[in-house]
Amino acid sequence: MSEEHPAQAILSLSTAYWASRCLHLVADVGIADALGDDPLPASALAAKTGTNPDALHRVLRALANHGIFTLKDGRFSHNPASRLLRSDNPASMRSLARMMGLNFHWDVFRELGHSLKSGMSAADKAVSGGLFEHLRAHPEDGRIFNEAMVGKSFGQIGPLLGAYDFTGFKTIGDIGGGVGHLLAAILNTAPAANGVLFELPNVIAQAKSTPNPRITYVAGDFFKDSIPPCDLYVMMTVIHDWSDADSIAILKNLRAHAPAGARLLLAEAVIDESARGSFPVDLDIEMLVFASGRERTESQWRGLLDKAGFKLVRAMPLAGITGLIEAVIAP
Ligand SMILES: C[S@@+](CC[C@H](N)C(=O)[O-])C[C@H]1O[C@@H](n2cnc3c(N)ncnc32)[C@H](O)[C@@H]1O
Repeated sequence: MSEEHPAQAILSLSTAYWASRCLHLVADVGIADALGDDPLPASALAAKTGTNPDALHRVLRALANHGIFTLKDGRFSHNPASRLLRSDNPASMRSLARMMGLNFHWDVFRELGHSLKSGMSAADKAVSGGLFEHLRAHPEDGRIFNEAMVGKSFGQIGPLLGAYDFTGFKTIGDIGGGVGHLLAAILNTAPAANGVLFELPNVIAQAKSTPNPRITYVAGDFFKDSIPPCDLYVMMTVIHDWSDADSIAILKNLRAHAPAGARLLLAEAVIDESARGSFPVDLDIEMLVFASGRERTESQWRGLLDKAGFKLVRAMPLAGITGLIEAVIAP
């Protein structure tokens, strides 16, 4: 593969937010929902979405330039990427694209310099009370965030179910499991198991709006509240939100209520610092600004789990953005 010219690399990355911002807004105004199977000019899509025809043509042309929508003879049509922006797509990523463009998200990234200087979360400075308090206090942002987590999970759940055998467990807890999308998928592969979804009260309220009869919904704070005993605890992209000190506190609280022999399964990236083009290495910056969190190498995971009273059994790479880390309670 030929290397990109150095000047082009700087130009492309310095300006990457141009197209990124177009994607957020096109997702937000619902262009993909307005476009059916037949190609349409931007003027028709603008009339349906309350946007300016000329500006919309240019914004959609920029996205087509990046492989999202196809432009031919002045009309836009769907392609596989643009179809992921439709709300009715079972694997929709519309909310993920919207979430990345929410005002609070831009406010936090504006303060990346604060994180760079202090090593601390920029969300604490830019968003009153930090990320999860913001999502609680702004229900529409919270709803979009929770849906975004479902959207980002489509690529994770398949590889995860293929890599781990859940059939031997009776009670599987998904801790910080969002609206229960992963837990429901796991229970489908483990007919003898029941599930416990442990989440913040506002997220449990959203999860319960489409209840699953095999899931017990428990509202609480994983730093201090009692987490129901389970024989397997799953946490997908939760610990990466937190600093080492906070992560150890969460895991110690979980361990305090866990029965002997319980297992812990973290669906998290295991980063390779020498990799080029690694999504988790970029995702690490989102963790830095939002919650003083981080993506971790295998040895960092091992050290963290040790300090929280767990022993890492194995770390498995998976296709997609996460790996799997299995741990047991240390003797
Ligand atoms: C990055 S999301 C991951 C959601 C889900 N596991 C997934 O991967 O799709 C982190 C989750 O942790 C939950 N969370 C944050 N702080 C929490 C707390 N103190 N107690 C319980 N859950 C919490 C959030 O509500 C959020 O759903």
